[in-house]
Amino acid sequence: MVIALVGATGLVGQVMIKVLEEQQIPCSKFIPCASARSVGKEVTFRGQPHRVVSVEDALEEKPQVAIFSAGGATSLKYAEAFAAKGTFVIDNSSAWRNDDSVPLVVPEVNSGTINTSTRIIANPNCSTIQMVLAIAPIHLQYGIKRIVISTYQSVTGTGVKAVEQLFNEREGKDGPKAYPHNIDLNCFPHGGDFTPNGYTTEEIKLVNETRKILGNANLKITATVVRIPVIGGHSEAINLELENDFDLDQIYSLLAQTPGIIIQDDPSENLYPMPGFAEGKDEVFVGRIRRDESVPFGLDLWVVADNLRKGAATNAVQIARVLLDKGFVKA
Ligand code: A2P
Repeated sequence: MVIALVGATGLVGQVMIKVLEEQQIPCSKFIPCASARSVGKEVTFRGQPHRVVSVEDALEEKPQVAIFSAGGATSLKYAEAFAAKGTFVIDNSSAWRNDDSVPLVVPEVNSGTINTSTRIIANPNCSTIQMVLAIAPIHLQYGIKRIVISTYQSVTGTGVKAVEQLFNEREGKDGPKAYPHNIDLNCFPHGGDFTPNGYTTEEIKLVNETRKILGNANLKITATVVRIPVIGGHSEAINLELENDFDLDQIYSLLAQTPGIIIQDDPSENLYPMPGFAEGKDEVFVGRIRRDESVPFGLDLWVVADNLRKGAATNAVQIARVLLDKGFVKA
C-alpha cells in the first residue's frame, strides 16, 4: 500500500508515523509531505530516512491512502484532488466532518459507514472520539437523553507552538504564543474561537460530531471546553441522563466488553484515569463510574485518552486498517 502523510512534520504527524510502524500497516512506499518550509527535510519511517515532499508531488504518486493532518485549509485545498485520483483520504482536520456525504468514523462504533462511494473519510475531533467510544455502548443499550460534557484538554491538542509556550513559561523564557493568556499554572474555558451564541468552535464540534456519529441529530448535548497546562491526554467529565434505568454493574460490564476501553475505577486504591498514565497508550480509560443521584437515570463518567493517539493518529490508522479489511485498498 502506498501511503502519503500530509503534515508529517507536525505533532500529530509524528505520532501517526509511530502508530503506522507499531500497527504494522503494510506500506510499500511512504510519502511524507509538509509545507514548503519542510520540503527536503528528512523523517524516519521504519528505520529508513524519507525525504519530505510537497503535497503536489505526493498527489502525482496517486497513493492508495493519504492521511491528512495539516489543518483544515490544507485539507480543503487538496483532499478532493487526491480523491479524484482514487486515493482514500483519511482527514484529521475539521474541514469535511460536517459534510453529509463524508463518513465521520470511530471504527469501534461506526466503521460500517465507510463505503466506496466516497473517498474522503473524516477523523473526528480528539475530544469527540474518546467520549463517543465510552458512551456509544451505553446509548445503544439504554438510550441517552442528554449529555453534559466538560473537558480538561492538553496543550498538545493545539500543536507544537502550544507545547513550546507551556515549557517556555515554565522556564521563564520568551517565545511564540499559541494562546491569548499564560497557560502554565492557569486554565481557560476557551478552545478554538468564540461564536455568536457564546459557545466556542471546539464545543460546537463536540456537539455536532457526537450527533452525527451516534446518528441522532436531535441528541441533547452541551459542552464546555477547558485548556489546562497538561501534556499526555485530554480528560472529560461526562454527565449522562439516560432514557431507561440501569444497573451500575451492567454499565461496568458493558464498558469492560467494549474494544478499546480500559476501566480504571477503584477509589479505595486512588485508581482513576489520568493523562499522565494515558500518554503513549491507544486505549480510552474510563473511571469514576457512578450514579448521578440528582436525576432519575443519571450517570457520571471520567474519561481520559492520549489525544494524539486515540484522539488522532490511532483512530486514523484504525480507519486505514478498516479499508484493508474491507478490501477497499489492497496491501
Ligand atoms: P511544516 O512543519 O512544514 O509547517 P502542528 O499542528 O503540529 O503545528 O503541525 C502541522 C503540520 O501541517 C506540519 O507538518 C506542517 O508542516 C503541516 N502544514 C502546515 N501548513 C501546510 C501546507 N500549507 N501544506 C502542507 N503541509 C502543511
